[in-house]
Amino acid sequence: MTVPTPHIEAKDASLIAETVLLPGDPLRAKFIADNFLEDVVQFNAVRNMFGYTGTYKGKRISVMGSGMGMPSIGIYSYELIHFYGVKNLIRVGSCGAMQPNLKLYDIVIAMTASTNSNFIHQYGLPGTYAPCASFELLNKAVKLVESKNYPYHVGNILSSDVFYDEDSDSWKKWAKMGVLAVEMEAAALYAIAQRASVNALTILTVSDSLVTHELTTSSERQTAFTNMIDVALGLA
Ligand code: HPA
Repeated sequence: MTVPTPHIEAKDASLIAETVLLPGDPLRAKFIADNFLEDVVQFNAVRNMFGYTGTYKGKRISVMGSGMGMPSIGIYSYELIHFYGVKNLIRVGSCGAMQPNLKLYDIVIAMTASTNSNFIHQYGLPGTYAPCASFELLNKAVKLVESKNYPYHVGNILSSDVFYDEDSDSWKKWAKMGVLAVEMEAAALYAIAQRASVNALTILTVSDSLVTHELTTSSERQTAFTNMIDVALGLA
């Protein structure tokens, strides 16, 4: 297959930068392009999954929505890597805290992502795979959050296929294993990136807590989101 792909209409691989930020929401991609990037060109609108390329402090970077869940980020990340030559994929999203020491708006950097999904079964592995972040990107991200004094945590997260879980206590088993927080995409992103020998990282902000049932407000979320974007763009 060549470009364009079934889900990305950019007619030439050069229209997408080697580093792509992937928020779940395509309107977040537009927000990042509008507020943080210069010389922006839109490269995708298929299914309204907006994608943009611009520059940040003189460095070329793209940003595109990933959608929600592993099937969706699986499609976009695979096409970006295999047809557009993307080398660094940085998911920026939100998560639900599963540990009492994670406060609303804290940054969570996913070193690894456990999962309840079947996505990784496609690789036919004779055991349990541990999807893992790029150490290079992780190391850089930690240095950036420390230099900016943002509260942060690094560790294992859960990439879940289920948002409305029939068993509302199932997260507690993951929490007992030290898993920090839950989201719905990182495990697939990491597996796809490692399979293709490219770099991936997931940076999240805590939007709610399964422990305390606290929720963020949308205006407060924007500020926390801005801190996370600040870190993610610094990786370009
Ligand atoms: N579950 C799954 N994904 C999430 C959550 C959650 O509680 N919060 C933010 N993303």
